[in-house]
Amino acid sequence: MEGTADFEATLEGLLSRRARIVGPTVWAAAQPDPRPVISFAGGLPDIPSLPAGELERAVRAVLERERKEALEYGGTYGPYPLRVAVAERSSRIEGVPVAVDQVIISSGSAHGIGNLCEVLLDVGDVVLAESPNFPGSLRTFRSFGAELVAIPLDADGLRVDAVEEALRQLDAEGRRPKLLYTIPNHQNPAGCTMSLARRERLVQLAKEWGFLILEDDAYGELWFDAPPPPSLFALSGGTHVVKVNSFSKIIATGLRLGWTLGPAPLVARMAAIRYDMGTSPFLGRVVAEMIRSGDLDRHVERLRGIYRRKLERMEEALRRYCAPYCRWERPRGGFFLWLALREGIDAREVAIEANHRGVLVGAGAAFFADGRPTNHLRLAFSYVDYEDIEEGVHRLAEAIEAVASRSRGS
Ligand SMILES: Cc1ncc(COP(=O)(O)O)c(C=O)c1O
Repeated sequence: MEGTADFEATLEGLLSRRARIVGPTVWAAAQPDPRPVISFAGGLPDIPSLPAGELERAVRAVLERERKEALEYGGTYGPYPLRVAVAERSSRIEGVPVAVDQVIISSGSAHGIGNLCEVLLDVGDVVLAESPNFPGSLRTFRSFGAELVAIPLDADGLRVDAVEEALRQLDAEGRRPKLLYTIPNHQNPAGCTMSLARRERLVQLAKEWGFLILEDDAYGELWFDAPPPPSLFALSGGTHVVKVNSFSKIIATGLRLGWTLGPAPLVARMAAIRYDMGTSPFLGRVVAEMIRSGDLDRHVERLRGIYRRKLERMEEALRRYCAPYCRWERPRGGFFLWLALREGIDAREVAIEANHRGVLVGAGAAFFADGRPTNHLRLAFSYVDYEDIEEGVHRLAEAIEAVASRSRGS
């Protein structure tokens, strides 16, 4: 009989390559901090505006009208009425016709990304990924054994000239990427939006070199003054682009629902490889009802105003308290402001000092695949209470001053 220690050794030998690449660390939503903190850390929606009333109405309608279908297994494409509602809504938002067989529903967009990786990636495949980036997706690509090639960003989004350079360099080694991963709108963490000219060129490159673009649009609908340029998906003419989207930021993260748009044969492959019996038919129908009733569009419209006001408040406070120490580009939407600290001020130390003062921020290094030192902080303005923003930035300024004066003294 094996004891616990022996079994752990046996288990190590039994683990899949994927499990070994990922390692033993389990991701869990952050425990509430027992202190009264002000959090600029998580990419989470505003709490007071979560649409509980709209969800309640939709739940009641679904249970009255389609109880049987809502409470039975669906299929691996996801609930049909939600796919229909998403196809119609996407046709309007994308400005190109989207058919139901181009839509698959996932358990959040994180699952959509993983599902696409299952279809495409083998160990050693190359994925081009803009940098900095959302660490959750980088971890997913790595778990499939992919080799990540970092492509830098600037104020106009992904540096497409650097993509061309990487393609040429890989070609010289006899290699090609399978996938390029980008968050073109209100990027996480950098806040930038890709210009139309770069989008057009990127789609052209995907067609020339035969790779797929994975367009992650978790924040695209949450623009402030004007919608972003057409999506890569819309510009692609129906090939070479897969677009993952999420209900997390426009309804609630707790739904765990997202949708993917792509070429029908690829979407069929994604449905075919799933073994989870699809996402919840019940929740899917509830969200379909929110779309059909117009509640979702009205809610998104409200959210744009809420997040714009929070950003304005944050920028006012940054100008008042932090201006000598940092600079930033104003995001045109989304949840994040990417703060560049003055050279010589260590962002990690600032994050620690801010934490001592009850303010949580994201240290920039977490968003680079190589964890390189960077002088950036990611400030999420989405989740924090409006009334706490000024106080939070004030304390952040104190933290920056403390680190700056230490580095002056050293
Ligand atoms: C850019 C980006 N993509 C994907 C996700 C995953 O979100 P979800 O799985 O909740 O849709 C997030 C979450 O923060 C994100 O920021």
